[in-house]
Amino acid sequence: MKTRKKISLIGAGNIGGELAALCARKELGDVVLFDIPSRAGVAKGKALDLEQNGAILGYDAKISGTGDWADCAGSDVLIITAGIPRKPGQSRDDLVATNLPIIRDVADNAKKHCPEAFVIVISNPLDAMVYEFMRKTGFDSKKVVGMAGVLDSARFSLFLAREANASVKDVRAMVLGGHGDDMVPILSACTINGVPASQLIGKEALDAIIKRTRGGGGEIVQLMGTSAYYAPASSAVAMAESYLLDQKRLLPCAAYLTGEYGYNDMYMGVPVVIGAGGVEKILQLELTEDEKAMLAKSAKSVQSVVDVVKKAV
Ligand SMILES: NC(=O)c1ccc[n+]([C@@H]2O[C@H](COP(=O)([O-])OP(=O)(O)OC[C@H]3O[C@@H](n4cnc5c(N)ncnc54)[C@H](O)[C@@H]3O)[C@@H](O)[C@H]2O)c1
Repeated sequence: MKTRKKISLIGAGNIGGELAALCARKELGDVVLFDIPSRAGVAKGKALDLEQNGAILGYDAKISGTGDWADCAGSDVLIITAGIPRKPGQSRDDLVATNLPIIRDVADNAKKHCPEAFVIVISNPLDAMVYEFMRKTGFDSKKVVGMAGVLDSARFSLFLAREANASVKDVRAMVLGGHGDDMVPILSACTINGVPASQLIGKEALDAIIKRTRGGGGEIVQLMGTSAYYAPASSAVAMAESYLLDQKRLLPCAAYLTGEYGYNDMYMGVPVVIGAGGVEKILQLELTEDEKAMLAKSAKSVQSVVDVVKKAV
């Protein structure tokens, strides 16, 4: 009888390492940290370091590193960060040429070794990579989601909290649409402990916050020369935890759309309930006309990258 959950992390780089640390600390299950054979030593080294960390912090999780997909067999959850991150001056879409063959390789192996897993894709350009993963594996779209909205909403929440001089714990904010510069902060669903943010923060400051949120990933790339990893890892772990513990959290995730919000056959950020069934529900919010227009613009950007991916057979 299998009782412990198995979480495989595909890509043992910056986000992969932090994902492993968080999954272990939360004792979500045993963790397999996978990377390509030439980087298997890094995966093994991080795994060993983190197992030793458990002796200090007092968590009980088996963590192993590998370059062999067979070790990921039977995973309950797969979190995919395989691919390269942005460098200063690059857009997420500039990563297609490198990351498309990588996501296809990962999809083939996931199909072979982990057909039962709930899959969270993080690799960029996010909406196109998660679409391609689902298309290539043929997995049920309820079991394949992309992580972006939780992270973008966290950035939005932080900037709102700082501006309102409020605790970030009291902010509820939601960012929908594609994970690009056209992402759509939903002001109508944004409150500070129930009080609409627009009652506490003036329009000019709100506009500046929305601009900073949209460029939030790029701001960190400019500072570090590579992309963020602490908050991206926490965001994906919140999604994995909601699935593994059947928490039914309402989280903004890139989900496969079949008519919701008027969009079809594409992945884009929408409010999703994640539970033991995977994507159990996609919520249809009442958007303002402005928000609808922003979503249409964002969808157009996502579709243009997906079209490139579809043509690159
Ligand atoms: N969705 C989001 O919100 C979000 C946020 C931040 C970063 N990202 C993206 O996440 C990805 C990973 O970022 P990172 O900072 O961890 O990068 P990283 O370079 O530190 O790690 C990526 C790892 O993927 C591995 N890899 C390459 N090809 C592989 C393959 N075929 N199979 C398995 N592993 C493979 C590399 O060897 C490397 O160790 C990037 O594409 C980045 O743009 C997404």
